[in-house]
Amino acid sequence: MLQEGPTLPAGCRLLSLEEVDSTNAEAMRHAAAGEAGPLWVWAESQRAGRGRSGRTWTSVPGNLYASLLIPLECSSDASHHLSLLAGVAVFDAIRAAAAEQARGLEGLRLKWPNDVLIGRAKLAGTLPECTSLPRRIAVIGIGINLAGHPSNLAGETTHLAAHGPQVSPAVALGHVAAAMANWLKRWSNGRGFPAVRGAWLERAGPPGEPITVNTGRERISGRFIGIDPEGALLLREEGGAERSFTFGDVSLAPAGQTGKGTA
Ligand code: BTN
Repeated sequence: MLQEGPTLPAGCRLLSLEEVDSTNAEAMRHAAAGEAGPLWVWAESQRAGRGRSGRTWTSVPGNLYASLLIPLECSSDASHHLSLLAGVAVFDAIRAAAAEQARGLEGLRLKWPNDVLIGRAKLAGTLPECTSLPRRIAVIGIGINLAGHPSNLAGETTHLAAHGPQVSPAVALGHVAAAMANWLKRWSNGRGFPAVRGAWLERAGPPGEPITVNTGRERISGRFIGIDPEGALLLREEGGAERSFTFGDVSLAPAGQTGKGTA
């Protein structure tokens, strides 16, 4: 069993597991059986961790693998909001965990829609999934590279201990759970999304940053302008055309190519 228990906000229950296929899949099985949450599902390791766009999320010992199951009361598909909200909450949790050890964290930032980076390297990812059977719930999966990171990935990746802070999964989960509770309360089933959007923009890269969006069907390069009122990514192409995206993988321009120029 897990060594130490995290401190969770009042009213949150915890299911802690040594191993599971995926904490998101486990939370979804509980939802299908009628669980309405709030429930955190936490595992020391995953056999079949899920990433965005059908990718695999590799299990490295000492990292955080957890999913929050919550009831939803909004009518629209909340997963776009929850992607950004989870990024903001994970950013705040990591910053709080580092501050607890009297350390700052240079270069901590968000990348649309749900990546937490240090500099250009991925530190954490989130995976919100919604269902309405038998009731409307969301499962928000969170993976944070605390102690190590896979070395065989296409993009740059890092882990927290490489930057100083040594944070256990239990302590990290305590910070993540507190930050999620804070931002879910502010989001208020969608009514408070402007506050989430503002917080996301404060923690993201600067307007004018060169980016490329890969939608699976096309790759579009341009400059980051911001996000629209619903959280869609806004990009300005070289020729001046403005594009918005609700789906896609964003890559930053190679190091050295700065975000000069105006958005
Ligand atoms: C991404 O591709 O960036 C999202 C990664 C999300 C990984 C977490 S680990 C805990 C939870 N369970 C999963 O199977 N995936 C998420």
